[in-house]
Amino acid sequence: MSAPRILATGRCLPKRVVTNEELSRRVDTSDEWVFSRTGIHQRHFCTEETGLDLAAAAARQAMERAGVKAADIGVCLTATFTPDHASPSTACLLQRELGLEEDTVCFDLNAACAGFLYGLKTAHALLADSPRPCALVVGAEVISRVMDHDDRSTCVLFGDGAGAAVVRRDESRSWHTVFGSRGDPDSIRVQGPGRVPSAIQMDGKAVFRFAVEVVEKSIRQLVAAEGLSSVNDLDLVVCHQANARIIDFVAKRLKAREGLFFKNMDRCGNTSAASIPIALDELAESGALKPGMRVLMVGFGGGLTWAGALLEW
Ligand code: ACO
Repeated sequence: MSAPRILATGRCLPKRVVTNEELSRRVDTSDEWVFSRTGIHQRHFCTEETGLDLAAAAARQAMERAGVKAADIGVCLTATFTPDHASPSTACLLQRELGLEEDTVCFDLNAACAGFLYGLKTAHALLADSPRPCALVVGAEVISRVMDHDDRSTCVLFGDGAGAAVVRRDESRSWHTVFGSRGDPDSIRVQGPGRVPSAIQMDGKAVFRFAVEVVEKSIRQLVAAEGLSSVNDLDLVVCHQANARIIDFVAKRLKAREGLFFKNMDRCGNTSAASIPIALDELAESGALKPGMRVLMVGFGGGLTWAGALLEW
């Protein structure tokens, strides 16, 4: 029996806030259209900040709040589909920024918007063999870099940001997880450098159908695995913040009580792998997350991948 315990979180959003109103001056859209379809009013875009800058600021905050030093970190993972470089990885650059030891396991992983939970699972497994007690799991994205800013069907959806968690293995606890992937080449795609088109492309309706299916299924599986009778026995559900309508649809299907499902996409947009740790950090900072709470998290995204985890805070 073992589960990851999140000791503390951190987050960093770029300084520049971009409202729907600002986007409507470049493309034919409106705050009314975007908010009613997605729940998004604004997002942050990087100007001079890099993905590493965001990741390092979020990680430093999480480490400081957890009261851990560089020498306590044995695993450093960054979940991202928009790294600053194909190589070196953001995780290796973070190692240097944070002064992590040479025996630290450092790498990036790409499971799109499910990446943070893939990272949490991987870090927990790797910690079993680590001489150091803690892992750093970071979700960091600069999606504005891979967007066509003239394509109204995608440019209104995404934002940049990073969230981080310091994690320790707790042998006295258990957790439940679900993971899946569908080998889908088309529904969400960003082609490699030199390919045309290079910007993110998405079949919004297909992603919507996929998302509501796997989010509902994952929550039902995790609630049953925990031996609970209803989603309302949980304290909080934190889904990937792609779209408020996806969350509202699933909450209604599960007859969830008001306020059980957290939402912050109105302020951040869809920050892919960063969205769950950013949400956790907002919740922790506001005091809404308390020790002992049962928290269920679900991510879904390109691949098509999905992941769910239920753990005690
Ligand atoms: N402003 C105004 N009109 C727009 C905009 C916009 N920003 N974008 C599209 N439209 C227009 C389209 O051109 C279309 O016009 P037409 O009927 O004249 O052809 C009309 O609005 C309807 O377009 P749809 O794409 O059918 O709009 P839909 O209601 O499906 O909403 C959306 C699009 C919000 C993307 C929706 O499909 C959705 O929520 N999909 C879920 C996917 C998602 O959230 N992805 C996030 C990223 S992926 C991830 O994180 C996993």
